[in-house]
Amino acid sequence: MLLRLIVAGLVATGMSAVTAAEPARPAATAYADILPAPVSARAERGAFTIDRGTTITAAPAARGVAEYLAGVLRPATGKPLPITRPGRGGDAIALVIAGRDTGDESYRLRVSGRGVTITAGRAAGLFAGVQTLRQLRSGRTIAAGQVSDAPRFAYRGAMLDVARHFFTVGQVERYIDQLSQYKINTLHLHLADDQGWRIAINSWPRLATYGGSTAVDGDPGGYYTQAQYRAIVAYAASRYITVIPEIDMPGHTNAALASYAELNCDGVAPPLYTGTEVGFSSLCVHKELTYKFLDDVIGELAALTPGPYLHIGGDEAHSTSPADYVTFMNRVQGIVAAHGKKVQAWHNVVAATPLPTTVAQYWDTTPDNPQVAAAAANGTGVVLSPANLAYLDMKYNPSTPLGQDWAALIEVSDAYGWDPGNYLVGAPPSAIRGVEAPLWTETLRTSADIEYMAFPRLPAIAELGWSPAATHDWSKFRLRLAAQAPSWRAQGINFYPSPQIPWR
Ligand code: ACM
Repeated sequence: MLLRLIVAGLVATGMSAVTAAEPARPAATAYADILPAPVSARAERGAFTIDRGTTITAAPAARGVAEYLAGVLRPATGKPLPITRPGRGGDAIALVIAGRDTGDESYRLRVSGRGVTITAGRAAGLFAGVQTLRQLRSGRTIAAGQVSDAPRFAYRGAMLDVARHFFTVGQVERYIDQLSQYKINTLHLHLADDQGWRIAINSWPRLATYGGSTAVDGDPGGYYTQAQYRAIVAYAASRYITVIPEIDMPGHTNAALASYAELNCDGVAPPLYTGTEVGFSSLCVHKELTYKFLDDVIGELAALTPGPYLHIGGDEAHSTSPADYVTFMNRVQGIVAAHGKKVQAWHNVVAATPLPTTVAQYWDTTPDNPQVAAAAANGTGVVLSPANLAYLDMKYNPSTPLGQDWAALIEVSDAYGWDPGNYLVGAPPSAIRGVEAPLWTETLRTSADIEYMAFPRLPAIAELGWSPAATHDWSKFRLRLAAQAPSWRAQGINFYPSPQIPWR
């Protein structure tokens, strides 16, 4: 084992065996092990060493990425790494905005003995390149080589359910930092469900103060003030992650119905709910107050959310008649549009009439869904989260202590073993916006719980979203994944040590 560590360190860094094997230092990832796999990568001879004189150079548009990189590298290297304008001389890690802005996170990375240059058409590409650079660093040393990279899909998401159990701003930010390392660019926050309403709405204050007061199993509830929500959005933005807030409706609404009796068809508020059944609640489709309520909620959420999408749920509306469901979803799509936002919804929305800009999030467990395929052929964008492949809350095996198993048991090879580009039968490839890994939290209470379910499957889904289809290869992916473990240990990330992976 020690020999393997030393060899891995030598290969990755070209440094002396003694230095490479220092225990406190995670081994660098070799160019072949970058995760998600880049479009192309090539190791070269030599290495760059970060020293007292090393600067980070960045034009004003790249300043935010430079601050982020300095925030990572200063504590890791103990070097001052001042940020300067380009062209001030010295050894440099240069962040350069140049070339065509392709509107995505494309970048090029070059490391030689003299320095590091990341070039991209926009800051989001530099940020993606910085994540690659982080994987290549060991101590103060970065192995020489070149990477040219671009995402396969524009949408690479993760969902966190903060309704079944509440997670603090700090816990969400910790997850955001983990997501960003794998080039995830969208955080879908499931903010309201039967068991809890987690965002303060000024015009309907009891939603949070009462509807947010508990959680599954009667665990403590909680909610984000609007300032806290803005802080999460800003933190995500500093990691080039866009937040999509979800208020699930017309079902999954017991917390709202419990908070305001007048929202119920019979005018009687149900009790707060701390169980884990689904499908028993519905907003009152034929009450005008329902739409005044939703206009207020969506209006406040739209004002708080810079991203273009609001998610309106629409799944498991088993207590809403099919006709009412159509009436409701069509009307609410219009309310979202009136507040200047686009709709994302679970794929059940295709039973209504999706607006041209509506994105359907697919959570079925089969690639055969003619209704969704027809909507996709008709122009509805699709984000893929098949529950039996991409749901991070599914158990890995029958003895996984956390999670559920209603969709499947999902080992790492299952999470990785599908192609989003040709998964949904009959859907045109152009309809597929990307992938998302949802994490429902009925059984999850802590960051360690989140991490145990997300790692190592989140990086698998992230790779399906980012990497060219041509790189898809389980035998290589499992080695890339294995190479991440030292970094996870160094960061204190709790992960499932899958027997499928030859962990380092
Ligand atoms: C879902 O899992 N009900 C979207």
